[in-house]
Amino acid sequence: MGLLKGGINEIIATTANNAAPIGIHYREQTARMILFLGSHTAENIERDGWVVANFVHDPILYVKSAFGDLSREAFVEEPVAGHQMHRLREAEAWIAFSATIENKTSEALVVRLTPEREIMEGAFIQPINRGFNSIIDATVHATRYIRNRDAELKKLIDYHAGIIRKCGGKREIEALNLLMSYIE
Ligand SMILES: Cc1cc2nc3c(=O)[nH]c(=O)nc-3n(C[C@H](O)[C@H](O)[C@H](O)COP(=O)(O)O)c2cc1C
Repeated sequence: MGLLKGGINEIIATTANNAAPIGIHYREQTARMILFLGSHTAENIERDGWVVANFVHDPILYVKSAFGDLSREAFVEEPVAGHQMHRLREAEAWIAFSATIENKTSEALVVRLTPEREIMEGAFIQPINRGFNSIIDATVHATRYIRNRDAELKKLIDYHAGIIRKCGGKREIEALNLLMSYIE
């Protein structure tokens, strides 16, 4: 698996007609997801036994897939390991995994991922942009904030909003406006 780096890889996970940003924990050659119960991603993986990790650099896709639904046209079917897996049409690269449940608690699933296919669709060298990185951080905090309205989380979101406004391009600013519309 050449694309995953040691640590947590923030990708967009696709399951049957669904997409959501999820972290892949990659340590000692083993890839896992920790999924909080109640998400479509957790439900679909438990039912179907597969997930695709999509590598994308569009900040709007991270926000949209975290809070809303993508249209059917956003997905492409890929026959892999006996499944019709779904990946994002916009993916710059993707890894299709078979997924097995290693552990299930009242709160979360631990899912072990076995790579079945890894494809680079194009070159994807991207300059580091703090605005983009802060979209990822702000979106993580926002997915928690909409559940508990914790004032500390709002402070973190506002901090990242400042960086996005200062360092982001048009697409990051648009993603920030979308994010704010979801949480207000
Ligand atoms: C960058 C990022 C990483 C995330 N990582 C995880 C994760 O590892 N596990 C998880 O359960 N949710 C994670 N989330 C939250 C889910 O994306 C969020 O709950 C989403 O609404 C689930 O959508 P779904 O119901 O379509 O699966 C993450 C969110 C972001 C923005």
